Amino acid sequence: MSQIKVRKLKHIPSEITVPGDKSISHRSVMFAGLCEGTTVIENFLPSEDCLCSLSAMQAMGAECEVLETDGRGKPVKLAVTGHGMKLKAPAAPIDCGNSGTTMRLMSGILAAQRFNTTMTGDESLSRRPMKRVADPLALMGAKVTGQGDKICAPITVHGGDLNAITYTLPMASAQVKSAVLLAGWNTQGKTSVVEPAVTRDHTERLLAHFGVKVVRDGNTVSIYGGQKPEAKDLYVPGDISSAAFWMVAAAATPGAQLILKDVGLNPTRTGILNVLVRMGAQISDNVNYAEGEPRGNVVIHGGELNATVIGGDEIPNVIDELPILAVAAALARGTTIIKDAKELRVKETDRISAVAQNLRLMGVPVQEFEDGMEITGGMELTGTTLTSYGDHRIAMAFAIAGLYAEGVTTIEDTECISTSYPGFERDLALFLNEPRFPDESTPVINRVPHEVGERLSSQDPS
Ligand code: S3P
Repeated sequence: MSQIKVRKLKHIPSEITVPGDKSISHRSVMFAGLCEGTTVIENFLPSEDCLCSLSAMQAMGAECEVLETDGRGKPVKLAVTGHGMKLKAPAAPIDCGNSGTTMRLMSGILAAQRFNTTMTGDESLSRRPMKRVADPLALMGAKVTGQGDKICAPITVHGGDLNAITYTLPMASAQVKSAVLLAGWNTQGKTSVVEPAVTRDHTERLLAHFGVKVVRDGNTVSIYGGQKPEAKDLYVPGDISSAAFWMVAAAATPGAQLILKDVGLNPTRTGILNVLVRMGAQISDNVNYAEGEPRGNVVIHGGELNATVIGGDEIPNVIDELPILAVAAALARGTTIIKDAKELRVKETDRISAVAQNLRLMGVPVQEFEDGMEITGGMELTGTTLTSYGDHRIAMAFAIAGLYAEGVTTIEDTECISTSYPGFERDLALFLNEPRFPDESTPVINRVPHEVGERLSSQDPS
């Protein structure tokens, strides 16, 4: 079992370029594999999750030529050749590994195929509910069977002819929205999904990139069945959810200035920037567009952070960033409240419980609620041994917490980081070692821990 040991940070590097966006990389290989023709995908995220989506499409007839690899021999530029929307039955069950995105989006695609497909997952994925996609797909005429009431993996998607539906999502989930839209794409009518709050819209934008029109009217997103996608090259922007770890590290360091290069700035994903600004960071960005996705450099100026409230419609926009925002809250003056986030309980692990346990072990007072938590920040964190609970975002969030803790923080069970951020440890080392070119980085100005009395009298999380 691998572990990461972290000590106090030595300096903030001047810039970091994070790997490609996970959500867009998944969709890029899935949709490219449904086109007739070849799509060249650049800056693909070669994480284990995205490679599961690629292997799934290859198992069903798409071809992939690797054009470029990263330092670890993993594909970052590939040419995916599809043979249209009718896929070939895979010879064996599809292994989705740790990836909920693979299993849920593939369910939508497979629901319209003329064969049955079984999908398996690792221990964590096998605990996650697939009923949320099975229910709407059943209304469309497909059957998804699985284990227990929550229809957990292994699941089997029994494909066939589908009807268009209008479906109101019981939870704000981009994965479920995408599964329904992808199934609706294979009907003869108009399928609409009504969202309780706007969720990430990469499916809509990437389908449009491939010439498939998806329309939004308020919180309703609709697709007309029967539209043929056209292969078209694309470049995946950097993942703001990976950049989030460094953003918080810089934001919490007075005097720091860090540039995150070429990050995806899709407004359904940039909630972290709004939250950090509310907490006192200064942030600037320059947005440009390519392949329908806004992107650009983000500059973070650090300072003393203050508590805030994170909740309501903002939650889907920061859902993957809440573990690292909880760490930011522990470093901030006052009591931060995270609410309306019960979806965190059904991620790779129960992220409310995992974050609360680890913060407490570092000496942070945390009160846990069914849909969130209250974190009282501002005191020095204590280095200790923590587990990731097998969850990549918990592992990385607490590696950042370790940069601000007294002594050594050991994070155990860190293999999971490769599901979303290969190269994380190399980038983390930039914060732990003395700078090679001292002029180009921010020296660390020690954060002054707030006194308890001061903290309690200054609780204004509104
Ligand atoms: C994702 C959607 C979100 C997010 C996940 C990726 C996607 O999940 O947490 O990491 O790519 O559509 P939900 O749709 O379950 O909220």
